[in-house]
Amino acid sequence: MTSMDGRIGLVTGIANDRSFAWFIAKSIIAAGGTCCFTHLPGEKMERRCRKAIQGLGVEDPWLMPMDASDDASMDETFQRLGADHGRLDWLVHSIAFADKDWLQEGKFTATPRDVFTQAMDISAWTYMGMADRARGLMDDGGAMVAMSYYGAEKAVPGYNVMGVAKAALEATTRYLAMELGETGIRVNTISGGPIRTMSSMAVGGFGRILDWVEEKAPLKRNITGEDVGDTAAFLLSPGAAGITGQTIYVDCGYSAMGL
Ligand SMILES: NC(=O)c1ccc[n+]([C@@H]2O[C@H](COP(=O)([O-])OP(=O)(O)OC[C@H]3O[C@@H](n4cnc5c(N)ncnc54)[C@H](O)[C@@H]3O)[C@@H](O)[C@H]2O)c1
Repeated sequence: MTSMDGRIGLVTGIANDRSFAWFIAKSIIAAGGTCCFTHLPGEKMERRCRKAIQGLGVEDPWLMPMDASDDASMDETFQRLGADHGRLDWLVHSIAFADKDWLQEGKFTATPRDVFTQAMDISAWTYMGMADRARGLMDDGGAMVAMSYYGAEKAVPGYNVMGVAKAALEATTRYLAMELGETGIRVNTISGGPIRTMSSMAVGGFGRILDWVEEKAPLKRNITGEDVGDTAAFLLSPGAAGITGQTIYVDCGYSAMGL
């Protein structure tokens, strides 16, 4: 069993109780870990996030607004974490954004520069930005995990600019692992299969992707949030002490298939 006993960390990216981040927090809490949380600024986002956290059985959560596209907002979050807890053992990066107008079939080639830059910034650069701020709090080593998708390595209809950003996220994982390894910090990414969330519903033709995976994946089903949550908790735990710089597939085997 994965043990996160006595380990404290930050979960970013809970929009509601269907978010991957919610399932990751659920598994970490079940393994004995303590979670701090951030939500996207705004009253509605805070309300939704609080409700989802309540569903995890956390009564009085450490919760801050954080806009990862804003350096000052990220600085404030990590400074407050340091002041309140003194250390961080692990970090979950489960955020991404791209303008949904450009996540439609036939709309890759004309992607505007600002749409590309924003997708890369929020979905890839922020892993680096968070890692840089977290490492100062990880005196005794630590572990980080982010969320990617198969569209990083193969062209998936509609995924478009997000696929390019995920490829950058996976490369970022390897470079972070190389640089932070000597301080005992491990950096990994999970390539998760598709599930219905607020973000994924922005991808044109998403329903067809779910049907296709269910038909073609070796396990003949789509993944569950729990599949990803349990793998993330394991990667963040001492049980995964020898694993870093990796993209780990939690996709019912879909990526192993040639046809
Ligand atoms: N749902 C899927 O099919 C799927 C598959 C593989 C990977 N992923 C990845 O999983 C991660 C989580 O997505 P999800 O599917 O749980 O959807 P979600 O909509 O529940 O979560 C996305 C989160 O990103 C946050 N976010 C967006 N812009 C932000 C910003 N500027 N600052 C801070 N937070 C910001 C949102 O507030 C939200 O909480 C993403 O990286 C996504 O690309 C999703």
